Amino acid sequence: MPDSSLSTPGANFSLKEEIRSYWSGRAATFDQQVGHAIKSDAELAAFQSLLRQSFGTEPREVLDLACGTGEITRALLSLGHEVTAIDFSEEMLARARAKHGDRARILAGDAERLLDDDGIYDALVTRHLVWTLTDPEVAFAEWFRVLKPGGKLLVIDGDWINRSWLQGLLNRAATFLRERAGAAPHGADRAAFDSITSRFFFREGLSAERLGAMLRQAGFARIEAADYARVIKAQQRHAALHDALRLASSTRFALLATKS
Ligand SMILES: C[S@@+](CC[C@H](N)C(=O)[O-])C[C@H]1O[C@@H](n2cnc3c(N)ncnc32)[C@H](O)[C@@H]1O
Repeated sequence: MPDSSLSTPGANFSLKEEIRSYWSGRAATFDQQVGHAIKSDAELAAFQSLLRQSFGTEPREVLDLACGTGEITRALLSLGHEVTAIDFSEEMLARARAKHGDRARILAGDAERLLDDDGIYDALVTRHLVWTLTDPEVAFAEWFRVLKPGGKLLVIDGDWINRSWLQGLLNRAATFLRERAGAAPHGADRAAFDSITSRFFFREGLSAERLGAMLRQAGFARIEAADYARVIKAQQRHAALHDALRLASSTRFALLATKS
């Protein structure tokens, strides 16, 4: 069972503190950025479809790892799952709690060092956490440990470091159009972002292939791509042009792994 204390031993303690502080600083505007808050019925339906295909149609005990402002938790709750959601940023947690109250157990905790007993969850889901991990081998072993046999892990993430030529072009076009539209800046602290990303384990970028290999090493089996394209299409349909381009300017993927 996660505890509200955040004792995080280990060599990466100060980096983790910086990461926590960075995300806390982004909590107030996080939902305004494209691809974060669920903006339409079509997007919610796409998430529901992804979650049903991944975890089945029955309500399950699910852990949302690094829940942020609680948007994946929202999709899980809409399907009747029993949700525990953890994050190490109190500012993020406050927003998740404001949305969901006691419909989910929303707790402070380190996703790399869980305090749960072994084998208690049917499924784990995490969006946009893995690329920021400081110690993914430890994290994946922990996630394997808390899953029941046959349990599922769904990782939604992307490569936010490397871009193909076309993705680079789309990204520049998105920035140009965004500035021309006079959209408010995201409020992210660029220097802090560069400083922490340069020390992430996946500082060279995260690929589905590398993630799959590491999950296999951690003991997971049947690692398969899950259909995330429908979610992105739904997000693009309700986005301004510059945000729709931004969504296309990085490689995004979802991987489903099973604890055999
Ligand atoms: C990009 S946000 C994603 C939030 C949410 N999963 C979503 O997709 O909307 C990354 C989140 O991971 C959290 N986080 C990063 N490392 C963490 C860790 N080791 N333990 C718990 N939370 C962590 C941050 O506080 C932040 O809320």
